Amino acid sequence: MPVHYVTYKGIKFPPAYNSVHSLSFAHNEFLVRDDDVFNITYPKSGTVWMTEILSLIRSHGHPSWNQTVLNSDRMPWFSTRLGLEAALSYPSPRLLTCHLPRHIFPKSFSHSTAKVIYTLRDPRDVVVSYFYFCKMCNSYEDPVSFEQFLRDFLSGELPHGSWFEHVRGWMQMKDRENFFFITYEELKQDLQGSVRRLCHFLGQNLDDDAISSVVQNASFMAMRQNPMCSSILLPADIMDQTKGQFLRKGICGDWKNHFTVAQTETFNRIYLEKMRGLNVAFPWDRD
Ligand code: A3P
Repeated sequence: MPVHYVTYKGIKFPPAYNSVHSLSFAHNEFLVRDDDVFNITYPKSGTVWMTEILSLIRSHGHPSWNQTVLNSDRMPWFSTRLGLEAALSYPSPRLLTCHLPRHIFPKSFSHSTAKVIYTLRDPRDVVVSYFYFCKMCNSYEDPVSFEQFLRDFLSGELPHGSWFEHVRGWMQMKDRENFFFITYEELKQDLQGSVRRLCHFLGQNLDDDAISSVVQNASFMAMRQNPMCSSILLPADIMDQTKGQFLRKGICGDWKNHFTVAQTETFNRIYLEKMRGLNVAFPWDRD
């Protein structure tokens, strides 16, 4: 079945959750509070992982909130129809989530000290993860082939827009005090150290036991066993669990099992072109 995406400012969004009104409200009218904390990502970069980490940090490592409340209620997607309502009635300090690119993020953010945590991932692994996600999530068009999907990713045609523009837009904030960026690869390599850095940025003091509990409860296996974040509670007409798993593999470098030599060459050429002048070294730049 064809999917009729919602389009806002030239970017496509999945219709199940978004409307032009919710996106426009988020962009133009949503009032950011100084004590808001935003979890921002391009899709498939570790959004839900960061949701689990941040809500565990907020609970000082006690897992009961994560185990009893859906992740989307703990950290509402404020630019979506349902998430907007939840965000507006959420008592401060709020934890909020979105995939919005910088240029359509709430205008009121410019004058606020709200904190942003931006998580990025090797774009080659993003495109692979996104490909499988689109196969199981009915709010996205079923990909015709990986070849075509990769082409659409590189030209910025996929829902949520161009990965390159998303990263370039948000990374403009990299020297601001209220902006923290981290990669999926760093989370994988050293989750404990990453949690400590996040606590420092958030001004939250957690002792060693609390940090260990965050690490344990945000592990891939713990998350797979937690229905509040594994997506199995989503309605079957949105997420078809017979076609895959949301927490699919949780590894770095799966792109190597999917990209042909020609696709790798094309990717590298376009990546270099589009990232020129950004002057940030990401873990995947070493590959
Ligand atoms: P894969 O499809 O490569 O497995 P998002 O939340 O932005 O949609 O990202 C989903 C991706 O993050 C999926 O990648 C998922 O498995 C991975 N992920 C989620 N939690 C994780 C964890 N605790 N450890 C490693 N990867 C995780």
